[in-house]
Amino acid sequence: MRSGPTPRDPGTEDATTFAAGAVEPRGQDFYTRSGNPNHAQAAAVVAELEGTEGAMVTASGMAAITTAVLALVSSGDHVIGQKSTYGGTASVLLNLLPRLGVSTTLVDQRDPEEFEKALTSKTRLILVETPSNPLLQITDLRAVAGLARAHGVLTLADNTFATPLNQRPADFGIDVVWHSATKYLNGHSDVSAGVLAGPAKILDRIWDTSLLTGATLGPTDPWLLLRGIRTLPLRVPRHNDNGLALAEALSSHPAVTRVHYPAALPHLRRRRRVRGHRTGRPAQHRQQADEGGLLRSRTRRGCLSSRRTRCRSRREARQQAARGQLPDPDRPPPPYTRTTPCGSPPAAGDTPHSHSET
Ligand SMILES: Cc1ncc(COP(=O)(O)O)c(C=O)c1O
Repeated sequence: MRSGPTPRDPGTEDATTFAAGAVEPRGQDFYTRSGNPNHAQAAAVVAELEGTEGAMVTASGMAAITTAVLALVSSGDHVIGQKSTYGGTASVLLNLLPRLGVSTTLVDQRDPEEFEKALTSKTRLILVETPSNPLLQITDLRAVAGLARAHGVLTLADNTFATPLNQRPADFGIDVVWHSATKYLNGHSDVSAGVLAGPAKILDRIWDTSLLTGATLGPTDPWLLLRGIRTLPLRVPRHNDNGLALAEALSSHPAVTRVHYPAALPHLRRRRRVRGHRTGRPAQHRQQADEGGLLRSRTRRGCLSSRRTRCRSRREARQQAARGQLPDPDRPPPPYTRTTPCGSPPAAGDTPHSHSET
């Protein structure tokens, strides 16, 4: 019998077909679409981080959510999602599910009562994401999980932005936690992966569907993902500190009209000084160990720091280029840059990869 990689020696197992262990297709020694030793190893680490019974890995975050939803709902069912949510998730709710006869309702997640009001006798699933992409809005996980459970409805939480170091949704009663592991979990921008973590019984249902969708992670990717996760405890506190410093700097910047950040800043500094005192505070302070590294800012019209606000007249852009504040709008952009809808090129340093909503 092959021993396979161990946690101390996470080598890669890149065979697609195995001779041993064929009695258990769900096991790691059958066929790589069913799972291989590297998948199992990465999944075990994620389950431990999220505090869940089990976990599974998928080819991307979208593969995780789409496979999970397809596994858990059928035609005629109803699903509740959030108004502020990652665009791909919104598209599953607004485009994919309705085409399959599943109705959906999107609610303002800042108020748990909105979820309750949207419940129907057909509701099978509630999808939450907190903090949300792109508005960093907070969902009260305990409140939503509680009301879902009371109505026999399953909950799925996207924990991509928080990471399990800042928030563990299962601790608040969420059934299944999922991630775009492409982001913080891997942390090296060289893997596309997703994870689902939750009770074995629900994961078995999702795994059955993943066998059909074939949303399988390649055998080398879990090895890279494990390499990335090893530095998560070093990276996340630094991201948290950078997020806070940037949120504070932008909040007092004259060109910035609004900063979307999970906490009210003056209270946050104080809270960090008295860590552990969490009672009577807003949901994010009860459920998140820290605010995380992500934020979004809005700038005054005509300011240069955000791609959205660069949609101004070409005349204004030319004037700014003449003053040396912007690349010349009449000069073709370098081949690797995208142009904004109004045709002005991205500012220096704003590469296509810096867009926070992807
Ligand atoms: C919050 C969030 N969830 C899910 C996804 C989708 O993940 P992936 O790109 O790995 O499919 C993204 C992608 O940006 C995201 O930001």
